[in-house]
Amino acid sequence: VKLLRLATDPAWSETSRRDLAALLSDHLHCERKAAENALSLVRRYAARPALVARLTRLAHEETSHLVQMAALLEERGLSLRADTPNHYARALLAEVRPNEPERLVDALLCAAFIEARSHERLSLLAEAFGRDGDPTLADFYAALASAEDRHAEIYVELAQDAMPAAEVAARLEVLAAREAAIIAALPHASRVH
Ligand SMILES: [Fe+2]
Ligand SMILES: [Fe+2]
Repeated sequence: VKLLRLATDPAWSETSRRDLAALLSDHLHCERKAAENALSLVRRYAARPALVARLTRLAHEETSHLVQMAALLEERGLSLRADTPNHYARALLAEVRPNEPERLVDALLCAAFIEARSHERLSLLAEAFGRDGDPTLADFYAALASAEDRHAEIYVELAQDAMPAAEVAARLEVLAAREAAIIAALPHASRVH
């Protein structure tokens, strides 16, 4: 799926790799929050069998990414840092409307944008680590990037189960513009977003 309106500024990948421990720590916490968010949707929408089936599997995959991130930190002799507020995700989730079914659809579409942006940024990191001459990190990031692309698709499909496709498409337009504005205003740092 092609969700993003705005490509990441090329200068971001330089800043992001300046502090590897900070970047890998933030990335580990992103995987953790991705799993937690999927599981909290399973709790809230337990009456939707397709959502439960797909998001439990997605959460399982995110926790496997979490295991891989923890192993990578250990391999590199880096210690995990505390989580810091994610202004990107917070600003996006502030767009979620309060009443059902809009609340569900918006939560799913915001998750789709976070996955799509993560896919873009992990792909940029894969390329940058390749240029740095670190094929282990390049391959690692390329593998994770392709998983996040599938996740974005799953969230969009689940939104289409909850609301007519035309309404989902209209909402995607609004959120795409908002996501582009949020990412453009975000300072560059050694973190995923
Ligand atoms: Fe992930
Ligand atoms: Fe994901």
